[in-house]
Amino acid sequence: MPAVIVVGCQWGDEGKGKATDQIGADVDLVVKFNGGNNAGHTVVVDGEKYALHLLPAGILSTGVTPIIGNGVVVDLEVLFQEIDELEARGQDTSKLRLSANAHLIPSYNRMMDRVTEKFLGKRQLGTTGRGIGPTYADKMNRIGLRVQDLFDESILRQKIEGALTNKNHLFTKVFNKAAVAVDDIVQELLAYAERIRPMVVDCSLEVNSALDEGKVVLFEAGQATMLDIDHGTYPFVTSSNATAGGACTGAGVGPTRIDAVVGVTKAYTTRVGEGPFPTELFGDEGEELRARGGEFGVTTGRPRRTGWFDAVVGRYATRVNGLTDLVVTKLDVLTGYEQIPVCVAYEVDGVRFDEMPMDQTSFHHAKPIYEYLPGWSEDISQVREFSQLPVNAQRYIEFLEEVSKVRVSVIGVGPGREAAIVRHEFLR
Ligand code: GDP
Ligand code: IMO
Ligand code: MG
Repeated sequence: MPAVIVVGCQWGDEGKGKATDQIGADVDLVVKFNGGNNAGHTVVVDGEKYALHLLPAGILSTGVTPIIGNGVVVDLEVLFQEIDELEARGQDTSKLRLSANAHLIPSYNRMMDRVTEKFLGKRQLGTTGRGIGPTYADKMNRIGLRVQDLFDESILRQKIEGALTNKNHLFTKVFNKAAVAVDDIVQELLAYAERIRPMVVDCSLEVNSALDEGKVVLFEAGQATMLDIDHGTYPFVTSSNATAGGACTGAGVGPTRIDAVVGVTKAYTTRVGEGPFPTELFGDEGEELRARGGEFGVTTGRPRRTGWFDAVVGRYATRVNGLTDLVVTKLDVLTGYEQIPVCVAYEVDGVRFDEMPMDQTSFHHAKPIYEYLPGWSEDISQVREFSQLPVNAQRYIEFLEEVSKVRVSVIGVGPGREAAIVRHEFLR
């Protein structure tokens, strides 16, 4: 199984970082293919906690070559901050590579992200404020800056001039901000050029050559299915394709080369930022699940909204990603509930929906139809064999498998690298 895509099935923070890290020992290349430092992955290795944003989670595994793909948007300041922090903690980052075609996040796009949100008022999205949306917009508008532009100062300057002509009108006349000077941005970006030069590669060539040599390549998504620009809860989404197709465009690999698509889902649901969330819990119930799961954002520290598992979302993720396997994380967090609701369908204005409604209005009106599964009270954090789980925990997993229409291959029972039950190997 040489080419495996790992995607999030819900609204992010499912534990993709941990899932990637867990199989790191068996992987040669880990390619991040979308998003940027809006992502936040917590990985716990030997009790040490690492928070990764822009760097692929594979960076923590010896032997892995981590690549930032062309589909990623890169904030150079953050990139080197993360590299320096990891190095200071004794992690080797020398193998990190970066696509020449990846787009750069200039500081004016961080500013644009924040002022745009402010002006949206009640319609704001609750973005991470990292400049992600404006940078992908520039890419589509063909006024973006790419990693390769750092090596041709005259081209870089022309491109910055082109981008700022329009943006400075907006900053000064609409948003009441000072104009941004071209020279400042040129300096800001060129400061990193020499340090980045040895890291720059043709991502597509690297990945395809590795596959030709029989190496194992893992494609790691940021964000998740329901935050995908095309398939998520638009407009309450991020600005990239976080679904499996994004791996092909975001790394330069053809769909015929992909062997497995692994979805990562929590045993319940969380969401950060605004937007619809049918199984959301409020008040004490929501707070209880948040406290049990330690649900606070890795990137912005915001409390995550919490709710029960949504099988309509699960089936949808299976469909749009073509999932072959599911990793269910945080089963341990549900220990102690007498019964656990699972949403199996929605009721929308008196009509039952077994599949995701086609339109936004219906999804906003969706009320969960629950089935109630019996809980368990035993500590499961040390369990490593499926058969050793309490019978009700086994039933819960089998139920998720049935309603999500994909086999559950790995079950997370704690934050550590070792805290997992493997039912099916999806590599090799
Ligand atoms: P990502 O963005 O998808 O990589 O996920 P995050 O790192 O943002 O959020 C997942 C959180 O759950 C992290 O704090 C992980 O350490 C933690 N985690 C992952 N898997 C498990 C698990 O099986 N059990 C528990 N208790 N925590 C887990
Ligand atoms: P990982 O990779 C959870 C959310 C933001 C906001 C929306 C748009 O850790 O799962 P953006 O800054 O991307 O324009 O914000 O998307 N969001 C995430 N939520 N996990 C993430 O990444 C997220 N990345 C973006 O909260 O609602
Ligand atoms: Mg996260």
